[in-house]
Amino acid sequence: MTEREFLKSVPLFSRLGEASLDAILRLTRRRRFRKDEVIFHEKEAGDSLFLILHGRVKVAIFGDDGKEVTLSILSEGDFFGEMALLDQEPRSATIIAEEDCELLSLQRDDFTRALEQDAGMSTSLIQVLASRLRKANHQISTLALLDVYGRVARVIQELAEEEGKRLKDGRVVVRRPTHMDIAHRIGSSRETVTRMMRDLEENGHIETQGREIFLRPDFQKLF
Ligand code: CMP
Repeated sequence: MTEREFLKSVPLFSRLGEASLDAILRLTRRRRFRKDEVIFHEKEAGDSLFLILHGRVKVAIFGDDGKEVTLSILSEGDFFGEMALLDQEPRSATIIAEEDCELLSLQRDDFTRALEQDAGMSTSLIQVLASRLRKANHQISTLALLDVYGRVARVIQELAEEEGKRLKDGRVVVRRPTHMDIAHRIGSSRETVTRMMRDLEENGHIETQGREIFLRPDFQKLF
């Protein structure tokens, strides 16, 4: 797929006319980051938007004691860095490459000009922001209303919704995240997550095999 075809397939740019798309393409810069490299830090001033061509990044915030909370994982076709451009505030989170990444970056002035010129792009942007707010609300309710056992189950449920595959026997299989990754998503410790995963397994809700987790058919309804 060419860069042009890729941009057309990305919701943020898919409503752009041919001329606007060409203009955006001329203005973007290709950038590569290695796994675990920090793309930018929370509280820094920000002057560009990034679009993921290949790879995945983690959106995280860190407490004063260095404790990490993962807000989201973004992948191919997703963008980040728009908030500092829109509200002129510092970066709201740190972005770290989860794997080797290839990104396109667009400078603040070019991004705001494109938004002003193209109502379709503004609509797409608002849709994505609404969907992120919805997910963030879900995350707040998980943290506020569930105990740690429920929170671990919710994370697995979310993974199943995002990238799970349903098998013929009704179970859903998902890639197994590390216990540390789960802990970062729910503000807990690795040891606690290990205990909760063992309890979920002993209660017959999940089965872990190698790098995969199998969820019983009615898992989605349980938590
Ligand atoms: P910005 O504040 O410029 O830099 C950090 C970026 O992380 C932010 O823009 C968004 O693109 C992204 N981001 C912040 N919070 C979330 C969230 N809850 N879900 C997904 N992405 C987010």
